[in-house]
Amino acid sequence: MNHSKIAIIGGGNLGSAIAEGLIKSKFITPNNLTVTRRNIAELNDLKASGVNITSDNRAAIQNSEVIIVALKPYNVKEVLEGLRDSFDKSKHIVISVVTGVHLKDLAAIAPAGVPVFRAMPNTAIAIQESVTCICHQGALNEQVNYVTELFNQLGITIAIDEKLMDAATVLGACGIAYALRFIRAATQGGIEIGFDAKTASLIAAQTVKGSAELLLKLNRHPEEEIDKVTTPKGCTIAGLNEMEHQGFSSSLIKGIITSFEKIGK
Ligand SMILES: NC(=O)c1ccc[n+]([C@@H]2O[C@H](COP(=O)([O-])OP(=O)(O)OC[C@H]3O[C@@H](n4cnc5c(N)ncnc54)[C@H](OP(=O)(O)O)[C@@H]3O)[C@@H](O)[C@H]2O)c1
Repeated sequence: MNHSKIAIIGGGNLGSAIAEGLIKSKFITPNNLTVTRRNIAELNDLKASGVNITSDNRAAIQNSEVIIVALKPYNVKEVLEGLRDSFDKSKHIVISVVTGVHLKDLAAIAPAGVPVFRAMPNTAIAIQESVTCICHQGALNEQVNYVTELFNQLGITIAIDEKLMDAATVLGACGIAYALRFIRAATQGGIEIGFDAKTASLIAAQTVKGSAELLLKLNRHPEEEIDKVTTPKGCTIAGLNEMEHQGFSSSLIKGIITSFEKIGK
């Protein structure tokens, strides 16, 4: 499978980011990758790096084995149903990164027997730092390993049950916005205590990156690391407790639940 040709149907923000990441990581050579969209002039950068660019979805599917669908949710049914007869169950696997399109929807659109995957990355995929949650239906182990390896080039992957896909979307994909709003708020505070905006933003962003790396690289619990910086009677614990009095943790938890309730509607 490692020599498979890949077609990305819908080379917009996410589709192009996946293409760039796969090439950068050398998971695939550009000549084995095809990206489609209607307005192909928008894909000139990919074209310049040797990727096949076309608006012919049918040809892209027929010339590839792995089909990544990165269309907008409202386009998926219409576009894929028109291409149904291009799929071959002995050759193709379909991976959808489309929010809200379920495995059963994909299985109903693709011809019987075509293995289908649902993957939920986030926008950090553009710098190969996504967390991508994956589930599948009708796939062989070898195909599951291949898809996992593909998204491992673009960050980390987590296998989940499909019933957790909405939760994965909120925590992982919406989570980018929550984390960035934290950084923006910290920047605002940093300006008020003396830094110019650029420096405050740099300090806030690198501090969040460092905090995350302490958990990811050293496998630490957040509270263990917090204990290290909260001196008794010190300024960190005073500020932290004030944030909690103002509802810091509670507002995050409530926001996550609100997003989850909204996505389920
Ligand atoms: N952004 C995120 O954080 C994120 C995370 C996880 C999942 N997703 C999902 O990823 C999907 C894509 O999101 P996006 O932000 O990349 O959207 P996008 O930039 O609008 O990309 C969709 C692309 O599909 C192309 N397209 C439309 N009709 C087509 C057709 N008939 N054949 C081939 N291409 C066609 C469009 O280009 P033309 O108009 O030129 O055809 C467009 O570039 C969405 O379903 C979203 O839910 C996004």
